[in-house]
Amino acid sequence: MVKAWSDRFSNGLNPAIQRFNASIFFDITLLEEDLDGSIAHAEMLGECEVISQDETKKLVDGLERIRAEASEGKFKVSVVDEDVHFAVERRLIELVGSVGKKLHTGRSRNDQVGTDIRLWLRRRIDELDLSLERLQVALLVQSENHLDTLIPGYTHLQRAQPLSLAHHLLSYIEMLQRDRERLLDVRKRVNISPLGAAALAGTSIPIDRRSTAKSLGFAKIYLNSLDAVSDRDFAVEFTAAISLVMAHLSRLAEEVIFWASDEFSFVRLTDRCATGSSLMPQKKNPDVPELVRGKCGRVFGHLQGLLTMIKGLPLAYNKDFQEDKEALFDTVITVKTSLEAMSILFEEGLEFCSERLASAVRSDFSNATDVADYLVAKGVPFREAYQKVGRLVKDSLEQGILLKDLSFEQWQKIDASINEDIFEKLAPKQVVASRISEGGTGFDRVQEQLVYWRDHIDSLKD
Ligand code: ARG
Repeated sequence: MVKAWSDRFSNGLNPAIQRFNASIFFDITLLEEDLDGSIAHAEMLGECEVISQDETKKLVDGLERIRAEASEGKFKVSVVDEDVHFAVERRLIELVGSVGKKLHTGRSRNDQVGTDIRLWLRRRIDELDLSLERLQVALLVQSENHLDTLIPGYTHLQRAQPLSLAHHLLSYIEMLQRDRERLLDVRKRVNISPLGAAALAGTSIPIDRRSTAKSLGFAKIYLNSLDAVSDRDFAVEFTAAISLVMAHLSRLAEEVIFWASDEFSFVRLTDRCATGSSLMPQKKNPDVPELVRGKCGRVFGHLQGLLTMIKGLPLAYNKDFQEDKEALFDTVITVKTSLEAMSILFEEGLEFCSERLASAVRSDFSNATDVADYLVAKGVPFREAYQKVGRLVKDSLEQGILLKDLSFEQWQKIDASINEDIFEKLAPKQVVASRISEGGTGFDRVQEQLVYWRDHIDSLKD
């Protein structure tokens, strides 16, 4: 057994403290990246002639053997290893003998763990970009199928103006695009190499930090070794960006939940994504969006946890940093599975009830603005038109009728400039079609958005 600590220590750790101190049971997640970082480090030591080519080869072969063992489930670790870095070094020495003891030359676990977590996060960001894109595409397909489907638009959750359903869904595509942009921006701050900063001050060993940075695909290196081992800004930034992803998913989830209720009945959940009740045989529950909505809490919590973790920490490395891992791991798994679940929901988990949506937009006062706009076109000042229509809505509500039920004579009494074409103007399809300002819900404008996203969803990395 390789001892982790120097001969300064003569007594073993209290077992409870050993467990408390250990991160091996969660940071084993970083194994691939720890091996990648160690291989780059070993090769650089060879290039810089700190170790011989033969020693480099033995180290690299040994590290690759550990990778192979892990893929076969044969790489066993225990609390004695403390963390993934010690576990790899211990196994390397078991496999290649005392040359394995040269791997840690000119390196500390402080710059090593910083390298591992950045490599890991960079990969996860690239995967999450694809997960976000999948949901965008699912929403785009629904949007393309529902350009002509109308849905009530709400403000304050009160009926406001009717919309093209595509327009409603496309707004989420745009939010998700910002999420992707934010993540790619965070990636720039993740993609900086701390390797070679050693414990905190750099090293007297003649290493080449730019060589390891290059072979690991980092865009640049930290200029200051203290900052290199102490920076966890990127973890906070990442979790903040993901918090916004989760907030966006939660808003969409909330809409699906009420759309699926009997009160709205705007969507039907298919059997692929809905769950039953153990007691009430009639129930079909929207568990998927409810879980997504519920999972926001843990990600927001991790953001708070990470901010609190770094606050007040003196330079340079502090063990507090070990707490970054579970927060990041859980954030990634939570957002990844939530994005996947929401994608499946829109791919095969729900159907919009077009009939019910059509009757919803026919039976309200959401065309009231259009009467006011109609009068404006006839030369009535907007505020005056607004007051006239307000009175009209009040009278209609008292009579229990809708604007479309008013007779031509009644319209004429409201304003002599009103013609027969008012009836056509009030039809929900016409109301939607008339919103022709750029970015509005008019069908031609929505069609422009559809074309834009067909071309652009995949284009961020170009
Ligand atoms: N397991 C540690 C972590 O996750 C690795 C770095 C430990 N460094 C140290 N000086 N104790 O942060």
